[in-house]
Amino acid sequence: MQILRERHISRGGHRKYSVIDMLIALTGTPGTGKTSVAKILKKKYRVVEISEIVKKDPSLILYRDEKRNSLVVDIDKLREKMSSYDGIVVGHLSHHLPADLVIVLRTHPEILRKRLSTKNYSEEKIRENIEAEAISLITSECMEMHTGRTYEVDTTEKTPEEVAEIVMKIIEDKEFRKNYVAGKIDYTEVVLNWY
Ligand SMILES: Nc1ncnc2c1ncn2[C@@H]1O[C@H](COP(=O)(O)OP(=O)(O)OP(=O)(O)O)[C@@H](O)[C@H]1O
Ligand SMILES: [Mg+2]
Repeated sequence: MQILRERHISRGGHRKYSVIDMLIALTGTPGTGKTSVAKILKKKYRVVEISEIVKKDPSLILYRDEKRNSLVVDIDKLREKMSSYDGIVVGHLSHHLPADLVIVLRTHPEILRKRLSTKNYSEEKIRENIEAEAISLITSECMEMHTGRTYEVDTTEKTPEEVAEIVMKIIEDKEFRKNYVAGKIDYTEVVLNWY
């Protein structure tokens, strides 16, 4: 499987590469830093946020969840639309796509709480997300749906630049990737302090 093909476009002396025949899902609980990392990855790869796709194509919206103040996306339709996309798809639903490689960003729940509180989330929504992170909900979904091609990166003590660097190496280096095989990050002990 060819991962990268050089595009031979010189931009300010830098060669531009693009992921051309893989669909990569960059997923993770809200607040784990997907968008922050995606902004850096955009310099090198073709990257799209699911929120952008939905904005451009409102027929992908099933309904608005008033309680959560969020849009519910038609995942089957999204899957159909993106099935032949090559590049990095970003969002907490991206692992529902037929991805060749899945990268889950993780954050210690207490740090995640801090990141989410900058986002103007309700206490209920923060709680829901940090609980999901504490039980590795998205990683579990990914490991079930994408066995053998799911990787995860703990962002807790890293800058978005450091995380982006690791994500790039996971994409490009099959040996390096082995250090990040999903299933090793465990935050469950923090749950014990909550009750
Ligand atoms: N590695 C990091 N270290 C510290 N703060 C971070 C890091 N990554 C992101 N943040 C901060 O955490 C908040 C959430 O980040 P971001 O919006 O990138 O997350 P997200 O995963 O895209 O969330 P969502 O799923 O809601 O879109 C932002 O305030 C961002 O500046
Ligand atoms: Mg985001």
